[in-house]
Order: sequence, then C-alpha cells, then structure tokens
Amino acid sequence: MTFNRNILITGGAGFIGTNLIFYLLNSCSRDRLVVLDALTYAGNLENIKSLIDSGRISFVHTDLSDIKYLESIIRDYNITHVMHLAAESHVDRSVTSPIDFINSNITGTFNLLEAFRANWERSDLNTNWRFLHVSTDEVFGSLNSSESPFIETSPYQPNSPYAATKASSDHIVRAWHETYNLPVLITNCSNNYGPFQFPEKLIPLTINNILLGKVIPLYGNGKNIRDWLYVEDHCSALELILNSGVVGSRYCIGGNNEMQNYQIIKEICEIMDDKFETLHTKPSINLVKFVKDRPGHDFRYAINSEKLINELGWIPKVNIRQGLEKTVSWYTSNYDWINNITSIDFTKYISNQYGGIL
Ligand code: NAD
Ligand code: TYD
Repeated sequence: MTFNRNILITGGAGFIGTNLIFYLLNSCSRDRLVVLDALTYAGNLENIKSLIDSGRISFVHTDLSDIKYLESIIRDYNITHVMHLAAESHVDRSVTSPIDFINSNITGTFNLLEAFRANWERSDLNTNWRFLHVSTDEVFGSLNSSESPFIETSPYQPNSPYAATKASSDHIVRAWHETYNLPVLITNCSNNYGPFQFPEKLIPLTINNILLGKVIPLYGNGKNIRDWLYVEDHCSALELILNSGVVGSRYCIGGNNEMQNYQIIKEICEIMDDKFETLHTKPSINLVKFVKDRPGHDFRYAINSEKLINELGWIPKVNIRQGLEKTVSWYTSNYDWINNITSIDFTKYISNQYGGIL
C-alpha cells in the first residue's frame, strides 16, 4: 500500500492519543500511523494492541528523552507529520513531582522538534509537512466569573507546574517556526472526557468511585469551572487542523460547555443512579466529600472556538449529556480496563495527597 503521509503520533497509548488513533483509522485516510509512547503509568499498550498485532499501526516504545533514537525513527519511517501528544498530564502529580513534567513536556518537546527538523531540512519534498503540538487552555491561567473565554491571543499566565511546562513547550514550538520556519501548528484545548481516560481525572474517578462505593473527593468548595469537551470532538478538530490549519498559527478548541465541578459530578451521579437499579450507594451524590483544595487551583477555564469554527468549519457533535452517558457506558462495560491499570502497580495509581483516588 502506498501511504500519502507518515504520521508520528506521540503519546498514542494515553487517553487522547488512543482515541485519536481510532478516530484517524476510522476516517479511512491513506496515512501510515507510527505511534510512539514511553508507556508511563498513563500509557496502556492494551488500548492499541489489536491495531499493532493486525499491522494497522506501527508502535515504537521509547521515551522522548532519547533524541538519537527519535532521530533514527523519524528518518527510518520518513515521518512527514507529527501529532505531538506525549506529556505528563495530571496537575496534581505536577504539584508533587514537577521534574517529570520538565523532562517530558519541555525537554521532550525540544528533542522531538529537533529530530523532526533534521528530517524536514534533509528533504526536498517537505512542502506539506507539519508538526502539530497539542496543548491545553491551562497555559492561559485562570478566569474569574465575568471574564470572556480564552482566545488565540490571550496572554500566557500558567499557574500550575503542569501548565507552566505546557506553556514553555508552546513557546519553544512557536520559536521553531519563527527561527527555522518549521511548519508548526499549536492547539490549546479545554478539558477532555471520554473512554480510556486514566481514573485519576475528575470524570473517570467519579464513575469508578461510585462503582466501588468510595468517597468522591471534591476539592475546595466544588465551584471551580471547567469547559468540557468530548474527546472525539477534540480528535476531529486535530485532524482538521493538521489537514487545513494555517502554518504557524494556533487554534483554541473548546466544548462551549462550562460547568462547576459539583454540577458535573451531580450529573454523573444521576446517570449512574438511573442506569444501575441495584447500586447500593444510591443516591450516589452522598458519596461526595469536600476535601482540602488543590494548591493554586485555577478557578475557571473557558474557551472560545470561533476561529476554528469560522475558518476551518469545525463542528463539535457531542453535547455534555450524550457525552457523559457514552462515557459512563464505556467505563461500566469495560470495567476490566480500570481493574487492570489500577491493579498492576497500585503505587503508580495513587496520584496525590489532596484527595485524588486515595
Ligand atoms: P495521558 O496522560 O492520558 O497520556 C499521555 C501519554 O504520553 C501516555 O501514554 C504516556 O505514556 C506518554 N508519555 C508521557 N511522557 C512521555 C515521554 N517522556 N516520552 C514518551 N511518551 C510519554 O494524557 P492525555 O490526557 O491523553 O493528553 C494528551 C495531550 O493532550 C497532552 O499533551 C496534554 O497536555 C494535552 N491535553 C489534554 C487535555 C485533557 O483534558 N486530557 C486537554 C488539553 C490538552
Ligand atoms: P482534573 O480532571 O484533574 O483536570 P484539570 O485539573 O486539568 O482541570 O480536574 C478537573 C477539576 O476537578 C479541577 O477543578 C479539579 C477538580 N477535582 C476534584 O474536585 N476532585 C478530584 O478528585 C480531582 C481529580 C479533580
């Protein structure tokens, strides 16, 4: 088979990466997908094993710290496009172990850029090549309740170690375009949810704890706001931006769906209570326990996606109620998935001292 493009997807065994791979394969493209992942606690090879075994994707197990190996992979597969998702991604872990975030998110991004640049500079056929850097709205800091949602020109003001490392990597990627003319694209997306998300993040943690009859830890007063986006809609945006985005520019991606943490937990509890007649914890909302707040906890994130909608025609498809129902269905019918990742090494599963899964 002749491939149109050779796309390297980093972080492909993680939450968004796994969804992205299935999404791209379903969209019937004629691209070769090469997936790279270090398989940290958040990366699960089982997610994509059937695709590797059937030859639908190639998999490379390596850490972004190994620049020489990165160079050889990118050269050997003649990578023409990169979708860079690999990162340490959990804010609470960044509070307790920031060095992992510096290494993977900053140095790792630098190594990948340099490895890609070497191949790009070597080729005469590189006009349509792209490096898509997948980032977060958290780089813009926190909004108060009356401020307008973030847009592409919002100033950077990262507050957590996670956000600061993502902000640094955004700047490095942008600088590689300004300095070396590397054809980069940057995306800043709001909070994702959906299948395959590690159960240290709010939504899968809530579902899992309801199933286990465990406390649902709610940080602070539970009024912090996040703008939730179903992961498949994020994937459609990434594919569109890779194909049609203007080189050197940035796109904000959001769910247009702001909810307080208490509200979203309440909605999940209602869905779970309706779905399972025999839940002994009913009403599940009684499992909520207000716990000590996360240090530097950003109050509100919200994204204005008008640029992406108006310029590239992005259409998000899944509203929050549908998305939560799909997510609850997936977790409750794939309970082995959670069991496997949480039983392999329990110490890796424990994320933080501020509530988390403990
Ligand atoms: P995740 O933690 O579920 O997955 C990250 C993946 O990267 C894992 O498979 C892990 O093994 C791999 N990885 C980590 N460090 C690595 C390294 N040094 N070398 C190679 N592989 C490494 O994260 P996610 O939620 O899927 O997020 C993916 C990307 O999207 C991240 O860059 C994140 O900043 C960004 N993002 C996430 C969200 C969200 O809500 N989850 C929102 C906006 C942007
Ligand atoms: P999280 O899923 O960790 O994403 P992020 O910090 O990147 O936004 O958290 C989402 C929100 O939920 C955030 O305001 C923190 C809060 N939260 C809790 O209240 N309890 C929890 O156990 C977790 C993990 C998060």
